[in-house]
Amino acid sequence: MSQKQKTIKNPPKAKEDELLSLEAKYCSWGDTVHYAEKLNIFDRAEGICLYDREGTEFVDLQMWYSAANFGYRNQRLNDALKRQIDKLPQLACQYLHAEKILLATKLAQRIGMIFEQKGRVHFNVGGSAAIEDSLKLVRNHTGRNLVFAFMGGYHGRTLGASAITSSYRYREKFGHFADRAMFIPYPYCFRCPYEKKRDFCDMYCLRQFERLFETEYHSVLNVKTKKCEFGAFYVEAVQGTGGYVVPPEDYFTRLKEILERYNILLVDDEVQMGFFRTGKFWAIEHFNVVPDVVVFGKAMTNGLNPLSGIWAKEDLISPTVFPPGSTHSTFSSNPLGTAVGLETLKLIEESDFATSVPKKGEYFVSRLRKLAKKYPQIGHVEGIGLALRMEICQKDGFTPNKELTDAITNIGLAGNLSVGGKKRGLILDVGGYYKNVFTLAPSLYITEEQIDLSVDLFEEALRKALNMVS
Ligand SMILES: Cc1ncc(COP(=O)(O)O)c(C=O)c1O
Repeated sequence: MSQKQKTIKNPPKAKEDELLSLEAKYCSWGDTVHYAEKLNIFDRAEGICLYDREGTEFVDLQMWYSAANFGYRNQRLNDALKRQIDKLPQLACQYLHAEKILLATKLAQRIGMIFEQKGRVHFNVGGSAAIEDSLKLVRNHTGRNLVFAFMGGYHGRTLGASAITSSYRYREKFGHFADRAMFIPYPYCFRCPYEKKRDFCDMYCLRQFERLFETEYHSVLNVKTKKCEFGAFYVEAVQGTGGYVVPPEDYFTRLKEILERYNILLVDDEVQMGFFRTGKFWAIEHFNVVPDVVVFGKAMTNGLNPLSGIWAKEDLISPTVFPPGSTHSTFSSNPLGTAVGLETLKLIEESDFATSVPKKGEYFVSRLRKLAKKYPQIGHVEGIGLALRMEICQKDGFTPNKELTDAITNIGLAGNLSVGGKKRGLILDVGGYYKNVFTLAPSLYITEEQIDLSVDLFEEALRKALNMVS
């Protein structure tokens, strides 16, 4: 070291302010950590809670953006990881191990049963990389680069995934995205993009999409050859980062009819909603359509490993059309991830999340609706399984109130709530088009008692925030 610098001998024992000043100096701020006003350093996790270095308990209602569906430090899944560490922790991805084969088999068989389709599974690391792989599949199969995606959709932040994610904010500084998706309004009925009312609209939004194919001058179809310039439509059946927005029940069946007319594939991004977040294995199962490709990640390993993957119908992914080397990452089907993934699938088979998750979700929503009656600032509450949304508004119950949302979030993170006579914090994730939606993704094992505690903590944070912000 040429310059004299203070070295930190034992970082885990460093004081909180020392760590924060090191973070400010040595960590890139290019990730999302500095969105927050107050930076917490967490030390321990258990069940539905995170603990800071002083031992303060934070009830977590976002569970790593739905990556830790099965609870922090789930013993069974942790043990699977530990067993694999002691058996075959490393293996170059060009070689086979049983866990990879069995996990792919279980996923393909389950998906095959759900959608009555033959298909195969391909692994990668992280949701964005799996999205990139799916884009290759689409291009390979259709010979077309362009895709449709939804306004409010989120598919990740690598270059390809950013190009089909609606926020310009994520692309702004990174040049021209030639293959940027054409973004179509999502059926966000509480704030209808066409300002219609759901009861009378007859899905006007779908009609507008359909009209794109009426003449060549709408820019997507050669009406003479019937060839569409767009190869696929990327959807989140329930929008995640967009604010846990649930579409009308028959939206996707009608969308799929239009797509089939023009040979456009349906790619279903389940990275956030998969693995029973909504009370079904995949969110799209609520809507009675068969996708051509499914993309998944996050909760497959309960957050213990960034394993992700895609499933595709056989004619898109069979070895004759998607040959060896079509995609690869050093870590793609790593043995630690596949071992945990396999255990997750076994755990799912032995559980009844299809019954327990909707039941818990209904209870949670009923408690939140009671709160909404008391506080006009809670403009909208909805849930599907344990994917729950709460829109924070002005007193009119509609105008988005980001200031109040941020105040509640920061009060939760400060860890000074006092429900039940114990100092606690609350961890909330904010999403939505106006950044005024609490997207709640609690552990699938949350109990009624813990739901009560969560709602009480939320109410305390809301009351405190209302004293600061109107
Ligand atoms: C629906 C969806 N797709 C893709 C991604 C990207 O996944 P990752 O952050 O693992 O790259 C996310 C992440 O939040 C997501 O919610």
